[in-house]
Amino acid sequence: MKKITKAVFPVAGLGSRFLPATKATAKEMLPVVDKPLIQYAVEEAVAAGITDMVFITGRHKRAIEDHFDKAYELEATLEAANKTELLRIVQEVVPKHVNCIYIRQAEPLGLGHAVLCAQPIVQDEPFAVILADDLMEGNIPIMMQMVEVFNQHHCSVLAVQEVPREHTKSYGIVSASNMAPNIEKIHGIVEKPKPEDAPSNLAVVGRYILTPRIFHHLQQINPGAGGEIQLTDGIAALMQYESLLAYRYDGVRYDCGSKLGYLKAQVMYGLKHKELSADFAEFLKSL
Ligand code: G1P
Repeated sequence: MKKITKAVFPVAGLGSRFLPATKATAKEMLPVVDKPLIQYAVEEAVAAGITDMVFITGRHKRAIEDHFDKAYELEATLEAANKTELLRIVQEVVPKHVNCIYIRQAEPLGLGHAVLCAQPIVQDEPFAVILADDLMEGNIPIMMQMVEVFNQHHCSVLAVQEVPREHTKSYGIVSASNMAPNIEKIHGIVEKPKPEDAPSNLAVVGRYILTPRIFHHLQQINPGAGGEIQLTDGIAALMQYESLLAYRYDGVRYDCGSKLGYLKAQVMYGLKHKELSADFAEFLKSL
């Protein structure tokens, strides 16, 4: 059975919900306390043993490439000023054994299309997809939990969580039946159904492990919800040929694609931050 060595990060979106902050930079570069969202996502992949990071980027996303590149001038300046801790932080943004690969998605044709852009690199291996605006936290990193499920069951795995019924229109929603603790077998999946049409309230969140057959289906499907090539529709087609599992991950998710979720993440990560926690907690108490 092939090991999961590649993660795809679709990062070509416009980030329009965060304008004007995202006018000239990528939404994935927005920081939670002092680290950009995309770095949390890459660290989660590294923790899961993944070594090849495949970013599907677009125009105006140069900051992501620069973030994971060597910063000669900055490093020389920090070194000359003897700021060794900061230098270490800058140099350790990505471990040395990790490769960063960038593919341009010329047009924003949808999440499914973005994933399809990774095919020349991923080829015939199972792979991870990580949506950086879902910031996920667990004692065991969430992608590591999912790789474990994949290694046991050898099929595609989607991270899921229950959401309030009125929120189904923001998610891919699955119908599934219990198979093992926290693992369900998926029977159906639909992108952003209205609450009254949703098959359940079990929502897919931004972590997937997919078998390479998904590429075949992503090539075949027509635009779906919002006129975009939807990953969910590709997965629905894949389900006709292979088993698919929904995994109720053990952890917390912050929806940093929304302002409220992003603010919650700032507060929670601020409260845990080693330099800030005590002062920040005191400040919150004083409000
Ligand atoms: C995407 C997917 C959706 C999934 C969600 C998780 O939607 O299309 O199926 O539930 O991510 O965050 P988006 O949030 O990009 O609209």
